[in-house]
Amino acid sequence: MTRKLLQLAVLIGSVTATGWLLADNHKHGESKSLPPVSNAKWKTECSSCHTLYHPGLLPERSWRKMMSGLDQHFGENASLDPVTQKEIMEFLVANSADHATNRRSAKISQSIPAQSTPLRISETPWFVQKHDKVSTDVWKRPKIGSPANCTACHEGAEQGNFSESRIKIPR
Ligand code: HEC
Ligand code: HEC
Repeated sequence: MTRKLLQLAVLIGSVTATGWLLADNHKHGESKSLPPVSNAKWKTECSSCHTLYHPGLLPERSWRKMMSGLDQHFGENASLDPVTQKEIMEFLVANSADHATNRRSAKISQSIPAQSTPLRISETPWFVQKHDKVSTDVWKRPKIGSPANCTACHEGAEQGNFSESRIKIPR
C-alpha cells in the first residue's frame, strides 16, 4: 500500500471507531437508564417493604389505580394520610411511563394494551420479554424470592439503572 492510501485507511478506520463510540454512548444515555427523579415522601413511604420502583416503569392509569387502593396493596395495608397519598400520586403520574420522554418508558407503555391496567411491573409484556432467559427456579432462590425484587439482581434499580454491566444474579 502506498503511504497516501495507508493514511486514508487509518483515517476511515478512526472515523468508523468514533462513530461506534458515539452510537454506544447514545444508546446508554437514552435507553439504559431512566431519568433521575425524587420525592422525599415517595422515598420514605414506598421503600419500607420493597424496592423503590421508579415511576417510569408503569403508566399513569396503573399508578392511579394502585394509589387509590393502598389499603389492599398486594395483601398488605399500605394506607397513607390523604395529603401524602395525593402528593405521591401526583409525583408518580408526572413521571409515569406514558408521561416520561425516555425510550425505555416509551417501550413499557407501548407494550401494555390500552384496555389493561397492570399493577405489577413484573407482569407487563415488556418485563416478561426482557426476562425470558431467567428461569422459574431462579426467581424462587431465597435471596431473590420474586421477580418484584429488582434490587436483588439490579443493584442500580432504585436509580433507574438496569444496564447489563450492573446485573448480578445471587446464587
Ligand atoms: C406495608 C408494605 C408495603 C408498602 C408500604 C408498600 N408496598 Fe408495594 N408491595 C408490597 C408487597 C407485599 C408487594 C408484592 C411483592 C412481591 O410480590 O414480591 C408489593 C408490590 C408492589 C408493586 C408491584 C411489583 C411488581 O412489579 O411485581 C408496586 C409497583 C408497588 N408495590 C408500589 C408501591 C408504592 C408506589 C408504594 C408507596 C405508595 C408501596 N408499594 C408501598 C408491600 C408494600
Ligand atoms: C433474578 C434476577 C432479576 C430480577 C429479580 C430482576 N431482573 Fe431485570 N434482568 C435480569 C437479567 C438477567 C436481565 C438481562 C436479560 C438479558 O440480557 O437477556 C435483566 C434485564 C432487565 C432489563 C433490560 C436491560 C437492558 O438494557 O436490556 C430491565 C430494564 C430490567 N431487567 C428491569 C427489571 C425490573 C424493573 C425488575 C423488578 C421489577 C427486575 N428487572 C428484576 C435479572 C433480574
